[in-house]
Amino acid sequence: MRLENEIAFVTGSARGIGREIAETFAREGALVIISDIKLEDCQATAAEIAAKGYRADAFACNVTLSQDVDKTIDAIIEKHGRIDILVNNAGITRDGLFLRMKEDDWDAVINVNLKGTFNACKSVSRVMLKARKGKIINIGSVIGVMGNAGQANYAASKAGVIALAKSLAREFASRNITVNAVAPGYIKTAMTDKLSDEVKNKILEAVPLGRMGLPQDVANVCLFLASKEADYITGQTVLVDGGMVTY
Ligand SMILES: NC(=O)c1ccc[n+]([C@@H]2O[C@H](COP(=O)([O-])OP(=O)(O)OC[C@H]3O[C@@H](n4cnc5c(N)ncnc54)[C@H](O)[C@@H]3O)[C@@H](O)[C@H]2O)c1
Repeated sequence: MRLENEIAFVTGSARGIGREIAETFAREGALVIISDIKLEDCQATAAEIAAKGYRADAFACNVTLSQDVDKTIDAIIEKHGRIDILVNNAGITRDGLFLRMKEDDWDAVINVNLKGTFNACKSVSRVMLKARKGKIINIGSVIGVMGNAGQANYAASKAGVIALAKSLAREFASRNITVNAVAPGYIKTAMTDKLSDEVKNKILEAVPLGRMGLPQDVANVCLFLASKEADYITGQTVLVDGGMVTY
């Protein structure tokens, strides 16, 4: 068990990559806090994980609202005492070419992906700094490293969470808190299911390993970064993209 007795808070974990990360952590002995916008979605996912014999609890939390995040973190601390691992996974896309991109599309994506990560880091780091222990993982994207036509808002937000991880790594290192980013490529979830077959085939041509990734591919790297095995790794970005970007 690589995360025995650890407590992990994963944002946007009712489904998709976040859910897979939470379940993977739970399988390795962690108590996982499933959090997402709707409480009933969190409860359903937590119940499914618990039905497999693992430990999971559910708290609704909209990461764009700092007061909501603070309230949620306070409630988790009151009930469970601490948070050892934070995964900033909640994210959205609002794709469109830049000339046609509305201010609202820009704001919505920056608010969830970047401001949401800021809110959760701000609130959870209070707890971790006091405990002098913690692992923070920001879910970026390969798009935040390479850019992409039609995703200027998303690319900027994901470059932001990668840079935020690098900066917090430097600020928190002396308190035994590591901060890293994971940058997935094209992973099979609801977010990518909505792409047309034509777009998917084009994407696959750019993936040397020739397939889309699975949520488990991303969760495996998060597990490593959250475990003691990664105690000496901070400020890094691990790409999980089938070889799309090498640098
Ligand atoms: N799927 C991919 O190919 C891919 C690639 C690179 C990066 N990512 C990133 O991985 C993360 C998870 O993506 P996914 O594919 O599982 O997407 P998804 O849409 O399946 O899941 C995202 C989850 O975040 C939640 N969420 C959205 N706004 C929220 C908010 N304001 N507060 C709390 N929760 C909120 C949603 O309700 C949903 O449960 C995202 O940050 C995404 O940008 C995904």
